[in-house]
Amino acid sequence: MSELEILAAPRPAVDPRAFRNALGSFTTGVTIVTTRDAQGRDVGLTVNSFNSVSLEPPLVLWSLARNSASLEAFVEAEYFAVHILGAQQEQLSNRFAQRGIEKFAGVEVARGLGGVPLLPGCAARFECRTAYRHEGGDHEIFVGEVLSFEHFDQAPLVFQQGGYAVAVKKPRRAQPVATPESPEGSFSRNALIYLLGSAHAMLLSLLRPALQARALADDDYFVLNVLSLGEARTVAELDALMALAGRRVEARRLQSLVAAGWVLALPGARFRLSDTGVRTMVELAAVAKGVEEDALQQIDYSEAHLLKHLLKRVIRNTARDVPALWPAPAAPSSDG
Ligand SMILES: Cc1cc2nc3c(=O)[nH]c(=O)nc-3n(C[C@H](O)[C@H](O)[C@H](O)COP(=O)(O)O)c2cc1C
Repeated sequence: MSELEILAAPRPAVDPRAFRNALGSFTTGVTIVTTRDAQGRDVGLTVNSFNSVSLEPPLVLWSLARNSASLEAFVEAEYFAVHILGAQQEQLSNRFAQRGIEKFAGVEVARGLGGVPLLPGCAARFECRTAYRHEGGDHEIFVGEVLSFEHFDQAPLVFQQGGYAVAVKKPRRAQPVATPESPEGSFSRNALIYLLGSAHAMLLSLLRPALQARALADDDYFVLNVLSLGEARTVAELDALMALAGRRVEARRLQSLVAAGWVLALPGARFRLSDTGVRTMVELAAVAKGVEEDALQQIDYSEAHLLKHLLKRVIRNTARDVPALWPAPAAPSSDG
Protein backbone atom coordinates (compact mmCIF):
# COMPACT_ATOMS: atom_id res chain seq x y z
CA MET A 1 0.00 0.00 0.00
CA SER A 2 1.42 3.39 -0.96
CA GLU A 3 1.60 6.22 1.52
CA LEU A 4 -1.23 8.03 -0.28
CA GLU A 5 -3.42 4.93 -0.05
CA ILE A 6 -2.61 4.57 3.66
CA LEU A 7 -3.61 8.19 4.25
CA ALA A 8 -6.79 7.84 2.18
CA ALA A 9 -7.90 4.55 3.79
CA PRO A 10 -10.78 4.75 6.28
CA ARG A 11 -9.56 4.31 9.84
CA PRO A 12 -11.15 4.13 13.29
CA ALA A 13 -11.26 7.46 15.13
CA VAL A 14 -8.39 7.71 17.60
CA ASP A 15 -8.61 10.19 20.45
CA PRO A 16 -5.21 11.96 20.21
CA ARG A 17 -5.03 12.60 23.96
CA ALA A 18 -5.78 8.98 24.85
CA PHE A 19 -3.27 7.84 22.20
CA ARG A 20 -0.60 10.15 23.66
CA ASN A 21 -1.34 8.91 27.20
CA ALA A 22 -1.03 5.29 26.10
CA LEU A 23 2.28 6.06 24.38
CA GLY A 24 3.43 7.70 27.64
CA SER A 25 3.61 4.22 29.21
CA PHE A 26 6.66 3.64 27.05
CA THR A 27 9.46 5.00 29.23
CA THR A 28 12.24 6.69 27.28
CA GLY A 29 15.43 8.61 27.79
CA VAL A 30 15.54 12.26 26.79
CA THR A 31 17.80 13.69 24.09
CA ILE A 32 18.58 17.04 22.56
CA VAL A 33 19.23 16.86 18.82
CA THR A 34 21.27 19.71 17.35
CA THR A 35 22.42 20.88 13.95
CA ARG A 36 23.58 24.02 12.14
CA ASP A 37 21.36 25.69 9.56
CA ALA A 38 22.39 27.01 6.12
CA GLN A 39 23.00 30.46 7.65
CA GLY A 40 25.36 28.99 10.27
CA ARG A 41 22.86 29.33 13.15
CA ASP A 42 22.72 26.72 15.88
CA VAL A 43 19.45 24.76 15.96
CA GLY A 44 18.24 22.14 18.41
CA LEU A 45 15.27 20.66 20.22
CA THR A 46 14.35 18.17 22.92
CA VAL A 47 13.46 14.76 21.50
CA ASN A 48 12.39 11.47 23.05
CA SER A 49 11.54 9.66 19.82
CA PHE A 50 15.22 8.70 19.53
CA ASN A 51 15.99 5.02 19.13
CA SER A 52 18.71 2.67 17.96
CA VAL A 53 18.15 0.98 14.58
CA SER A 54 21.20 -1.04 13.53
CA LEU A 55 24.61 -1.95 14.91
CA GLU A 56 26.25 -2.78 11.56
CA PRO A 57 26.11 -0.24 10.02
CA PRO A 58 25.54 1.91 13.13
CA LEU A 59 22.19 3.63 12.61
CA VAL A 60 19.87 5.60 14.88
CA LEU A 61 16.54 7.33 14.27
CA TRP A 62 14.35 10.09 15.65
CA SER A 63 11.28 11.89 14.41
CA LEU A 64 10.63 15.59 14.08
CA ALA A 65 7.20 17.24 14.06
CA ARG A 66 6.48 18.79 10.68
CA ASN A 67 5.37 22.00 12.37
CA SER A 68 8.72 22.32 14.17
CA ALA A 69 10.58 25.59 13.56
CA SER A 70 13.69 23.40 13.15
CA LEU A 71 12.34 21.28 10.27
CA GLU A 72 13.99 23.16 7.41
CA ALA A 73 17.37 23.22 9.17
CA PHE A 74 17.36 19.45 9.78
CA VAL A 75 16.10 18.67 6.25
CA GLU A 76 18.90 20.72 4.72
CA ALA A 77 21.73 19.79 7.10
CA GLU A 78 24.12 16.95 6.31
CA TYR A 79 25.01 16.29 9.96
CA PHE A 80 23.26 16.30 13.32
CA ALA A 81 24.24 15.36 16.88
CA VAL A 82 22.13 13.49 19.42
CA HIS A 83 22.84 14.18 23.10
CA ILE A 84 21.43 11.68 25.61
CA LEU A 85 20.76 13.85 28.64
CA GLY A 86 22.00 13.11 32.14
CA ALA A 87 19.66 12.94 35.12
CA GLN A 88 20.66 16.45 36.14
CA GLN A 89 19.87 18.08 32.78
CA GLU A 90 16.13 18.55 33.24
CA GLN A 91 16.41 22.34 32.93
CA LEU A 92 18.31 22.06 29.65
CA SER A 93 15.66 19.66 28.38
CA ASN A 94 12.92 22.16 29.27
CA ARG A 95 14.78 24.97 27.59
CA PHE A 96 15.19 23.06 24.32
CA ALA A 97 11.53 22.06 24.39
CA GLN A 98 10.49 25.72 24.04
CA ARG A 99 9.85 27.46 20.79
CA GLY A 100 11.05 30.91 19.72
CA ILE A 101 13.67 31.43 22.43
CA GLU A 102 17.46 31.67 22.27
CA LYS A 103 18.02 28.04 23.24
CA PHE A 104 21.82 28.22 23.06
CA ALA A 105 22.25 31.50 25.00
CA GLY A 106 24.88 31.02 27.69
CA VAL A 107 25.56 27.38 26.75
CA GLU A 108 29.21 26.67 25.97
CA VAL A 109 29.18 24.46 22.90
CA ALA A 110 32.01 22.60 21.20
CA ARG A 111 31.93 22.04 17.43
CA GLY A 112 31.41 18.68 15.81
CA LEU A 113 31.16 17.44 12.23
CA GLY A 114 29.83 20.15 9.92
CA GLY A 115 30.17 22.70 12.75
CA VAL A 116 27.22 21.11 14.57
CA PRO A 117 26.95 22.42 18.17
CA LEU A 118 27.89 19.83 20.82
CA LEU A 119 26.42 20.35 24.29
CA PRO A 120 28.37 19.62 27.48
CA GLY A 121 27.39 17.44 30.45
CA CYS A 122 25.36 14.73 28.69
CA ALA A 123 25.40 10.96 29.31
CA ALA A 124 26.26 10.06 25.70
CA ARG A 125 26.58 11.82 22.37
CA PHE A 126 26.28 10.59 18.79
CA GLU A 127 27.47 12.54 15.77
CA CYS A 128 25.54 11.46 12.71
CA ARG A 129 25.15 12.01 8.97
CA THR A 130 21.57 11.89 7.75
CA ALA A 131 21.35 8.57 5.87
CA TYR A 132 17.60 8.54 5.07
CA ARG A 133 14.49 10.56 5.70
CA HIS A 134 10.99 9.10 5.70
CA GLU A 135 7.59 10.67 5.93
CA GLY A 136 5.86 9.54 9.08
CA GLY A 137 2.42 11.15 9.28
CA ASP A 138 2.77 14.50 11.00
CA HIS A 139 6.46 13.75 11.70
CA GLU A 140 9.56 13.41 9.53
CA ILE A 141 11.71 10.41 10.46
CA PHE A 142 15.47 10.95 10.34
CA VAL A 143 17.74 7.93 10.17
CA GLY A 144 21.35 8.85 10.95
CA GLU A 145 24.54 6.94 10.36
CA VAL A 146 26.66 7.29 13.50
CA LEU A 147 30.11 8.55 12.54
CA SER A 148 31.43 9.03 16.06
CA PHE A 149 30.13 8.82 19.61
CA GLU A 150 31.16 9.42 23.21
CA HIS A 151 29.84 7.79 26.36
CA PHE A 152 30.16 9.46 29.77
CA ASP A 153 29.60 7.85 33.16
CA GLN A 154 26.29 9.51 34.03
CA ALA A 155 22.83 8.39 35.08
CA PRO A 156 20.37 9.22 32.27
CA LEU A 157 17.33 11.50 32.46
CA VAL A 158 14.11 9.54 32.01
CA PHE A 159 10.69 10.53 30.64
CA GLN A 160 7.47 8.69 31.39
CA GLN A 161 3.76 9.46 31.30
CA GLY A 162 4.40 13.10 30.41
CA GLY A 163 6.93 13.79 33.19
CA TYR A 164 10.56 13.33 34.14
CA ALA A 165 11.39 10.26 36.20
CA VAL A 166 14.36 8.60 37.85
CA ALA A 167 15.59 5.18 36.75
CA VAL A 168 16.75 2.88 39.51
CA LYS A 169 18.40 -0.41 38.56
CA LYS A 170 16.91 -3.55 40.04
CA PRO A 171 19.48 -5.68 41.89
CA ARG A 172 20.76 -8.53 39.70
CA ARG A 173 20.19 -11.07 42.46
CA ALA A 174 16.86 -11.24 44.26
CA GLN A 175 16.90 -9.66 47.73
CA PRO A 176 16.28 -12.07 50.62
CA VAL A 177 12.63 -12.39 51.47
CA ALA A 178 11.68 -12.10 55.14
CA THR A 179 10.97 -15.56 56.53
CA PRO A 180 11.29 -16.71 60.13
CA GLU A 181 13.79 -19.39 59.02
CA SER A 182 16.23 -17.01 57.36
CA PRO A 183 17.71 -14.54 59.81
CA GLU A 184 19.27 -12.57 56.93
CA GLY A 185 15.80 -11.86 55.63
CA SER A 186 14.22 -11.51 59.03
CA PHE A 187 11.71 -8.77 59.64
CA SER A 188 13.91 -6.95 62.13
CA ARG A 189 16.79 -6.71 59.66
CA ASN A 190 14.49 -5.32 56.98
CA ALA A 191 12.42 -3.16 59.32
CA LEU A 192 12.46 0.48 58.30
CA ILE A 193 13.09 1.60 61.87
CA TYR A 194 16.18 -0.64 62.09
CA LEU A 195 17.49 0.45 58.66
CA LEU A 196 16.98 4.16 59.26
CA GLY A 197 18.40 3.94 62.78
CA SER A 198 21.48 2.05 61.56
CA ALA A 199 22.05 4.45 58.69
CA HIS A 200 21.78 7.40 61.08
CA ALA A 201 24.16 5.79 63.58
CA MET A 202 26.73 4.99 60.85
CA LEU A 203 26.64 8.49 59.39
CA LEU A 204 26.97 10.03 62.83
CA SER A 205 29.92 7.77 63.67
CA LEU A 206 31.74 9.16 60.62
CA LEU A 207 30.96 12.73 61.68
CA ARG A 208 31.90 12.17 65.34
CA PRO A 209 35.68 12.67 64.98
CA ALA A 210 35.00 16.21 63.69
CA LEU A 211 32.69 16.82 66.69
CA GLN A 212 35.22 15.43 69.14
CA ALA A 213 37.98 17.58 67.65
CA ARG A 214 35.82 20.56 68.66
CA ALA A 215 34.99 19.06 72.08
CA LEU A 216 31.32 18.73 71.06
CA ALA A 217 29.09 15.89 72.26
CA ASP A 218 26.36 14.53 69.95
CA ASP A 219 23.70 16.37 71.96
CA ASP A 220 25.64 19.66 71.67
CA TYR A 221 25.71 19.14 67.91
CA PHE A 222 21.93 18.64 67.76
CA VAL A 223 21.32 21.80 69.80
CA LEU A 224 23.71 23.81 67.60
CA ASN A 225 22.00 22.40 64.51
CA VAL A 226 18.60 23.63 65.67
CA LEU A 227 20.03 27.04 66.57
CA SER A 228 21.73 27.22 63.16
CA LEU A 229 18.25 27.44 61.61
CA GLY A 230 18.50 31.08 62.74
CA GLU A 231 15.84 31.64 65.36
CA ALA A 232 16.72 32.31 69.01
CA ARG A 233 15.22 29.59 71.25
CA THR A 234 14.50 29.04 74.92
CA VAL A 235 15.70 25.93 76.75
CA ALA A 236 12.09 24.71 76.89
CA GLU A 237 11.69 25.05 73.10
CA LEU A 238 14.94 23.20 72.48
CA ASP A 239 13.91 20.51 74.94
CA ALA A 240 10.54 20.05 73.20
CA LEU A 241 12.31 19.62 69.87
CA MET A 242 14.87 17.16 71.18
CA ALA A 243 12.24 15.13 73.05
CA LEU A 244 11.07 13.82 69.68
CA ALA A 245 14.49 12.16 69.24
CA GLY A 246 14.42 10.90 72.83
CA ARG A 247 16.93 13.48 74.02
CA ARG A 248 16.58 16.11 76.73
CA VAL A 249 18.04 19.61 76.82
CA GLU A 250 18.72 21.22 80.18
CA ALA A 251 19.86 24.73 81.08
CA ARG A 252 23.24 23.27 82.04
CA ARG A 253 23.94 22.23 78.45
CA LEU A 254 23.17 25.71 77.12
CA GLN A 255 25.37 27.28 79.79
CA SER A 256 28.30 25.07 78.80
CA LEU A 257 27.79 26.00 75.12
CA VAL A 258 27.74 29.69 76.11
CA ALA A 259 30.94 29.20 78.18
CA ALA A 260 32.62 27.49 75.18
CA GLY A 261 31.73 30.48 72.99
CA TRP A 262 29.40 28.67 70.55
CA VAL A 263 26.18 30.24 71.80
CA LEU A 264 25.09 33.70 73.03
CA ALA A 265 22.60 34.18 75.88
CA LEU A 266 20.03 36.85 74.97
CA PRO A 267 17.54 38.75 77.13
CA GLY A 268 14.35 36.74 77.76
CA ALA A 269 16.33 33.53 78.40
CA ARG A 270 16.76 32.94 74.68
CA PHE A 271 19.83 31.56 72.99
CA ARG A 272 21.29 31.89 69.53
CA LEU A 273 24.52 30.92 67.76
CA SER A 274 27.53 33.22 68.22
CA ASP A 275 29.67 34.15 65.20
CA THR A 276 32.10 31.39 66.24
CA GLY A 277 29.14 29.00 66.47
CA VAL A 278 27.98 29.96 62.96
CA ARG A 279 31.51 29.43 61.56
CA THR A 280 31.76 26.06 63.29
CA MET A 281 28.41 24.92 61.91
CA VAL A 282 29.51 25.93 58.39
CA GLU A 283 32.68 23.83 58.85
CA LEU A 284 30.65 20.91 60.20
CA ALA A 285 28.19 21.21 57.30
CA ALA A 286 31.16 20.74 54.93
CA VAL A 287 32.29 17.67 56.92
CA ALA A 288 28.71 16.31 56.86
CA LYS A 289 28.61 16.80 53.07
CA GLY A 290 31.79 14.71 52.80
CA VAL A 291 30.23 12.01 55.00
CA GLU A 292 27.15 12.04 52.75
CA GLU A 293 29.31 11.65 49.63
CA ASP A 294 31.04 8.71 51.32
CA ALA A 295 27.69 7.13 52.16
CA LEU A 296 26.42 7.57 48.60
CA GLN A 297 29.38 5.88 46.91
CA GLN A 298 28.33 3.67 43.99
CA ILE A 299 24.79 5.02 44.40
CA ASP A 300 24.10 7.06 41.30
CA TYR A 301 22.39 10.44 41.15
CA SER A 302 18.94 9.03 40.35
CA GLU A 303 19.07 6.53 43.21
CA ALA A 304 20.27 9.15 45.72
CA HIS A 305 17.52 11.49 44.54
CA LEU A 306 14.92 8.76 44.97
CA LEU A 307 16.28 7.79 48.41
CA LYS A 308 15.94 11.36 49.69
CA HIS A 309 12.53 11.77 48.08
CA LEU A 310 11.25 8.60 49.77
CA LEU A 311 12.74 9.54 53.14
CA LYS A 312 10.93 12.89 52.95
CA ARG A 313 7.69 11.01 52.33
CA VAL A 314 8.34 8.71 55.28
CA ILE A 315 8.93 11.77 57.48
CA ARG A 316 5.74 13.43 56.24
CA ASN A 317 3.73 10.25 56.73
CA THR A 318 4.91 9.84 60.31
CA ALA A 319 4.98 13.49 61.45
CA ARG A 320 2.14 13.43 63.98
CA ASP A 321 1.95 15.70 67.02
CA VAL A 322 5.42 17.07 66.41
CA PRO A 323 6.33 20.51 67.78
CA ALA A 324 5.67 23.23 65.20
CA LEU A 325 9.36 24.10 65.38
CA TRP A 326 10.32 20.76 63.90
CA PRO A 327 10.27 21.54 60.18
CA ALA A 328 8.53 18.86 58.12
CA PRO A 329 9.82 18.49 54.54
CA ALA A 330 7.87 20.40 51.92
CA ALA A 331 5.23 18.61 49.86
CA PRO A 332 6.51 16.90 46.71
CA SER A 333 7.72 19.12 43.90
CA SER A 334 9.31 18.36 40.55
CA ASP A 335 12.74 18.20 42.22
CA GLY A 336 11.63 16.58 45.37
C1 LIG B 1 10.56 15.09 26.75
C2 LIG B 1 10.22 15.71 25.42
C3 LIG B 1 10.34 14.97 24.27
C4 LIG B 1 10.05 15.52 23.02
N1 LIG B 1 10.21 14.76 21.91
C5 LIG B 1 9.98 15.29 20.67
C6 LIG B 1 10.22 14.52 19.51
O1 LIG B 1 10.61 13.37 19.56
N2 LIG B 1 9.99 15.13 18.30
C7 LIG B 1 9.55 16.42 18.20
O2 LIG B 1 9.37 16.91 17.08
N3 LIG B 1 9.31 17.17 19.32
C8 LIG B 1 9.54 16.64 20.56
N4 LIG B 1 9.35 17.38 21.67
C9 LIG B 1 8.82 18.72 21.55
C10 LIG B 1 9.87 19.74 21.08
O3 LIG B 1 11.01 19.69 21.91
C11 LIG B 1 9.26 21.13 21.15
O4 LIG B 1 8.12 21.17 20.34
C12 LIG B 1 10.20 22.23 20.72
O5 LIG B 1 9.62 23.46 21.06
C13 LIG B 1 10.44 22.24 19.24
O6 LIG B 1 11.27 23.36 19.01
P1 LIG B 1 11.38 24.03 17.55
O7 LIG B 1 9.98 24.33 17.08
O8 LIG B 1 12.23 25.24 17.80
O9 LIG B 1 12.04 23.02 16.69
C14 LIG B 1 9.62 16.85 22.93
C15 LIG B 1 9.50 17.60 24.10
C16 LIG B 1 9.80 17.04 25.33
C17 LIG B 1 9.69 17.87 26.59
